[in-house]
Amino acid sequence: MASLKLIGVLVGIVTDSVTTVMASLKLIGVIVGIVIDSVTTVMASLKLIGVLVCTVIVSVTTVMASLKLIGVLVGIVIDSVTTVMASLKLIGVLVGIVIDSVTTVMASLKLIGVLVGIVIDSVTTVMASLKLIGVLVGIVIDSVTTVMASLKLISVFWGSFVLVTSLLTVGQPGIIFPTQRQAPLNPLLEPDCAFSVRSSKIGPNAAGNEGLQYIANFVPNLKSVPQRITGQICITFDDINNAVQEARRLVGKFIPQEIHELSSDLPEPKHIAAAALIIEEATRILAQRYKLNYDAIVNGLPRIDTSKTAVKQVCPTLLKPVKCELSRYRTLTGMCNNLENPSWGSARSAMLRYLPPAYGDGISVPRRAVDGSELPTARAISFIMHHDVSQHDQQLCNILVAWGQMIDHDLTLASPTLDERRMDIECCKYPPQQRHPNCMPIAIPHDDPFYKFFNKKCMDFARTLPGMRPGCTLGPRFQTNQISAFIDGNFIYGSQQKDAHRLRQFRGGFLKTAPLYRELGLKDLLPMKTVDPDVGCIARPRNAYCFDAGDERVNEQLVLTVMHTIWMREHNRVAEALGQINPHWDDETLYQETRHIVVAELQHITFNEFLPTILGVETIRKYGLQLLSHGYYDGYNPQVNSGIRSAFQTSAFRFGHSLLPDATDRYNKFHEKIEAIRLSMQLRRPYDLYKPGIIDSFLMGLVNQESNRMDPEVTTEVTNHLFEKPGERFGMDLAALNIQRSREHGNPGYNYYREYCGLPKARDFYDLAGIMPNTTIQRYAQLYKHVDDIDLWSAGISEYHLPNAVVGPTFACLIADQFSNIRRGDRFWYENSGWPSSFRPEQLQELRKVQLCRVLCDNADEMDTIQLEVLKTADPQRNPRVNCRGNNINHLDLSKWADVNHFSRK
Ligand code: HEM
Repeated sequence: MASLKLIGVLVGIVTDSVTTVMASLKLIGVIVGIVIDSVTTVMASLKLIGVLVCTVIVSVTTVMASLKLIGVLVGIVIDSVTTVMASLKLIGVLVGIVIDSVTTVMASLKLIGVLVGIVIDSVTTVMASLKLIGVLVGIVIDSVTTVMASLKLISVFWGSFVLVTSLLTVGQPGIIFPTQRQAPLNPLLEPDCAFSVRSSKIGPNAAGNEGLQYIANFVPNLKSVPQRITGQICITFDDINNAVQEARRLVGKFIPQEIHELSSDLPEPKHIAAAALIIEEATRILAQRYKLNYDAIVNGLPRIDTSKTAVKQVCPTLLKPVKCELSRYRTLTGMCNNLENPSWGSARSAMLRYLPPAYGDGISVPRRAVDGSELPTARAISFIMHHDVSQHDQQLCNILVAWGQMIDHDLTLASPTLDERRMDIECCKYPPQQRHPNCMPIAIPHDDPFYKFFNKKCMDFARTLPGMRPGCTLGPRFQTNQISAFIDGNFIYGSQQKDAHRLRQFRGGFLKTAPLYRELGLKDLLPMKTVDPDVGCIARPRNAYCFDAGDERVNEQLVLTVMHTIWMREHNRVAEALGQINPHWDDETLYQETRHIVVAELQHITFNEFLPTILGVETIRKYGLQLLSHGYYDGYNPQVNSGIRSAFQTSAFRFGHSLLPDATDRYNKFHEKIEAIRLSMQLRRPYDLYKPGIIDSFLMGLVNQESNRMDPEVTTEVTNHLFEKPGERFGMDLAALNIQRSREHGNPGYNYYREYCGLPKARDFYDLAGIMPNTTIQRYAQLYKHVDDIDLWSAGISEYHLPNAVVGPTFACLIADQFSNIRRGDRFWYENSGWPSSFRPEQLQELRKVQLCRVLCDNADEMDTIQLEVLKTADPQRNPRVNCRGNNINHLDLSKWADVNHFSRK
């Protein structure tokens, strides 16, 4: 048993061992399996890599084949180029031979030139000798003349003298051209001295004006000459004649015969400009020849009596004494308004000045900085000082802006330089040396925030035509006002006979109209502009026209055209009523009497509603601009020249450019807004007005829409898009035009006008604190070198406004001063008495009732309600809306114009 047990144990051990061996063998089998699997996987991978390598090799082979093909083609091209280069080289050699031949010919010509030069030199020497002989003969003749003149002088009777003072400023006595003047007569001067500058400092150190005296020969009562005279310049009448002749040669212009005409149509401003240019050049010649300083040019030369010199031949007849007749009605040009000085305030007379001009050269070159350097470009001032973030003025309606522009077009129109098609001349498209002499384009900086996107470097700008100085005197350049300075409705009636005729129906005193929608019960539109149809218009559709009126700018912006339409309708409304009251009146009487009334309405509304709103009651009082409520005005003064002042025209009255809105709103008759149209899209494009009834919606917009606030900001609609042409995304810049215009008219900077207005002159930029915003002052300090350099328009619109006024103190002063002259110097002013034009007292009382809201109610197609003070926004308490119909608003009772003489005879 034990053995069996042992055997059993052994068998067990053997079995275990065998089992273990079998297990080990199984394990080995598994491992061998795994190895075989791995090897199989590796082999498969290797096979795949092999396939990929094969593919790559095939691709590379293909690429190499292509490259080889390209190489072959490049080789062919290089071969061709080499052939061409060889041909060019051959041509070069031939050209070289030709150039050598030309050079040889040129050298021969040069030699001939030198020989000709020698001949010319010899001739010049002979001529110079002859000239010398001429001079000597001249001296002999002069001596004889002097002796003769002295003899004549002794025999001259000390006659009456005419006192002539500088016509630079307001209300000074004007030049009278007596038929017989005994000149030269000034006992302080040698007889042939037309003008003498005397100084204790003449010579190289005579920069200052201290001690300078100007003595004109025909002015007897000038201050006595100082005792200590160390220097004297004498300019003789002959010197002046010679300068004028020389100027005529230089300017190369014959004197247009038209300057001797005296009608409303002739001379045109361009004829006057041709003569004025001669005077300007003669002034320059005298200034250079006698080394006159600024003061002598500006204050001295204008005192010379030119009526005895060659200047007389170029002086337009309209500036000489003309015979005037007393008439009940104004002339179209304003000529003969002033009986003593018929041209004062008339169309084509010179714009006057508050201050002497500050031209860069004292004569005509645009103003420079006080240190003599160039001023910053006007465009930079525009985009740095006047970029567009303006807010609304909640008190003012847009019709205030429209009235401002409309009345400006009654007062001023500087004569532009036009081409033969009567279009503004272009400057930028020509290289500088080929430009018109009046070109003065505005440089656009390379980093301009707007124009840089259009790669624009230059903006077109041409100078205003030069105008004849008052009294045809020598001196710095003046400009012409193409229309009369009086409030006389010439924007309705025209300033020339040909325009006035074109606009009249010659029936019932009516103006012409376009009666397009009468069958719809709508009032007439302005007549269409069929003469020069594209002048002043943009993108005129085929078969549509702009509108025609007394002022050529009628289409400048759509709401201005609306205002023109209202006044054409008002004229015809009054004419019709007068025709019913006085059926015996003929067309001419009806036309003139209606014009007489309409002009009075314009004057009354401007002084009663417009000026108090923009100037404030304080300024109105200070400048005596209040209207009377009863009786006649006795302020007419023939010594006052109503002529427009250049600073008013170029700057102060352009305050309205700051008020312009970005868009013009249309409202319905319930005072609800219906549309806003971008301003730039309405400039010179009035075509919308042909839609029946649309005028009313623009009128309602004008009396509801708030204007922009008076501040340094100006809408980009006019600073980047002014008169933008279709398809272009940029236009011109009105702010830059204003600045450039004032500079080219020679107006001094803002600070000088502060002084003129009795305001403290700023000593440095920071003296302006409290007068305008600090940011504005800081920007000025960065832009300009000196506070005196700041441009008038720019600073004028930046001033804080006066209490209850739109403008600040400087513009208030310049505007008030101008309107005071316009009233005091107008013999036909509606409140005047004692003239054939005067209204009867009961008529004057009627005119005093006129309000703009009534004019709008009467001439809109169908207006229900409107606020009484129409220039200001409506407000239930302050400014309530009232019904157009009924008696809430005064009516002008035209029965007071019944012809009493006619009816009493019956
Ligand atoms: C959208 C409206 C207006 C436009 C497009 C416009 C455009 C112009 C342009 C292009 C000029 C000539 C610039 C130059 O070359 O010197 C000018 C001049 C002038 N503007 Fe405006 N203006 C607008 C509104 C006004 C308003 C509201 C006022 C006044 C309240 C005003 C007052 C003046 C004056 C006084 C001149 C000088 C006119 C002359 O004598 O030739 N303008 N304007």
